[in-house]
This record gives sequence, structure tokens and C-alpha cells, in this order.
Amino acid sequence: MYDSGKIIAGLLIFVALVTFPFYFNVGKVIAKPETKIDTPEIQKLPEHERKCVESKEFMRPGHMQLLNNWRDSVVRNGDRIYLNSTGKDFDISLQNTCMKCHSNKKNFCDKCHNYMGVKPYCWDCHIAPKENET
Ligand code: HEC
Ligand code: HEC
Ligand code: HEC
Repeated sequence: MYDSGKIIAGLLIFVALVTFPFYFNVGKVIAKPETKIDTPEIQKLPEHERKCVESKEFMRPGHMQLLNNWRDSVVRNGDRIYLNSTGKDFDISLQNTCMKCHSNKKNFCDKCHNYMGVKPYCWDCHIAPKENET
């Protein structure tokens, strides 16, 4: 005699196992590379202040535009202070502000850019942080 209960259970397990790799990967297909934000400068910040100049949600898609605005602000208007959306001010400097916190350029900026195939030319002129491997 067949035990239909066991067969159905067996089939369900089989289907689950076979399809596991697919649904396990849902949402991961375009997973971005791990970027590190554990630089000495960032770790110095009190935990609730471990933030970028703007929110992460803003920075991720918007940092290029922000940098563009920063450059215009300095080069065109001579204004070197940036007031962010929470009223905090920052010196406008790629080297001394962004890269002071993100001193791990290789494991942060480059990692993401390499993955996305972007190659900002900024470092032809701007000085990249000296890095000991993080
Ligand atoms: C005060 C330190 C600090 C400064 C200055 C700073 N960042 Fe950040 N940045 C952070 C931290 C901390 C995070 C992670 C934020 C989070 O998880 O909410 C971050 C996140 C980001 C992200 C998003 C990363 C991701 O994985 O989504 C980008 C892009 C970025 N920063 C670029 C920049 C650029 C460009 C500048 C200069 C315009 C800059 N940061 C200045 C600390 C800083
Ligand atoms: C979470 C991923 C990610 C991180 C981290 C990141 N970037 Fe980017 N960046 C991108 C992407 C994606 C683009 C391309 C966007 C586009 O073409 O519209 C880009 C573009 C840029 C551009 C414009 C380049 C061009 O040729 O148009 C600059 C400048 C830049 N990033 C600077 C930085 C700096 C400086 C850091 C580190 C402090 C950084 N980015 C970190 C994803 C990232
Ligand atoms: C041909 C050389 C050159 C290249 C390439 C270049 N810059 Fe600059 N950048 C300058 C000079 C010169 C200044 C003016 C420096 C000053 O007055 O402090 C400047 C100023 C800036 C400033 C404001 C002041 C500062 O010290 O950060 C930002 C932000 C900036 N550039 C971002 C960028 C970004 C982002 C890129 C790449 C997409 C880039 N620059 C590529 C030469 C260059």
C-alpha cells in the first residue's frame, strides 16, 4: 500500500530543497559589495552621531551630485561651509571631510565603484587618503 501522506510530505520537501537556491537568492542577485564604515575617524564618533553628511538614503544615490554642488560652491562662490539638512555644518572638502571619515577609500569608494564600473577621475588632482589595509 502507498502511504500518500508520506509521499506528499516527501514531495513537498523535495520541491522545497530543489527550489531553495532560487528563493534564497531573491533580492540578492544585485546585492552590492560590502562597504566598510569602520574607519578610525568614524569609530571616534559617538554611536548616535555615526552618520554621513546627509542620510545614507540620500548619500547612496546622491553623493555624486552633492560633490558636484560642493565643488561649485567652492570654485564658483568661494563658499567653503556646507549646512546639511539637520543644520550641522561641514567644511567643504573632498580630501579633508569626505576622505577623513572614509579614509578607507579602497574598501569603500573603490569597492563600490569597481563593482559598478565607475571610475571617478577626481584623484588625478585631489589627494586620496594614504591607506594601510583595513
Ligand atoms: C563624519 C564622518 C563622515 C563624513 C564627513 C562623510 N561620511 Fe559618508 N558616511 C559616513 C557614515 C558613518 C556612513 C554610514 C551611514 C549610515 O549607515 O547611516 C556614511 C555613508 C556614506 C555613503 C553610503 C554608503 C552606502 O553603503 O550606502 C556614501 C556614498 C558616502 N558616505 C559618501 C561620502 C561622501 C562623498 C562624503 C563627502 C561629501 C562623505 N561621505 C562624508 C561618515 C561620513
Ligand atoms: C554604495 C556604493 C558607492 C559608494 C560607497 C561610493 N560611491 Fe561614488 N558612485 C557610485 C555609483 C553607482 C556611481 C555612478 C552613478 C552614476 O553614474 O550616475 C558613483 C559615482 C561617483 C562620482 C561621479 C563619477 C563620475 O564620473 O560621474 C563621484 C565623484 C563619486 N562617486 C565619489 C565617491 C567617493 C569620493 C566615495 C567615497 C567617499 C564614493 N563615491 C563612494 C556608488 C558609490
Ligand atoms: C584637473 C584637476 C581636478 C580634477 C580632475 C578634479 N578637481 Fe576638484 N578641485 C580642483 C581644484 C584646483 C579645486 C579648488 C581647490 C580649492 O580652492 O580648495 C577643486 C575643488 C574641489 C572641491 C571643493 C574643495 C575641496 O578641497 O574639496 C570639491 C568638492 C571637488 N573639487 C570635487 C571634485 C570631484 C568630486 C572630482 C571628480 C569628479 C574633482 N573634484 C576632480 C581640481 C580638480
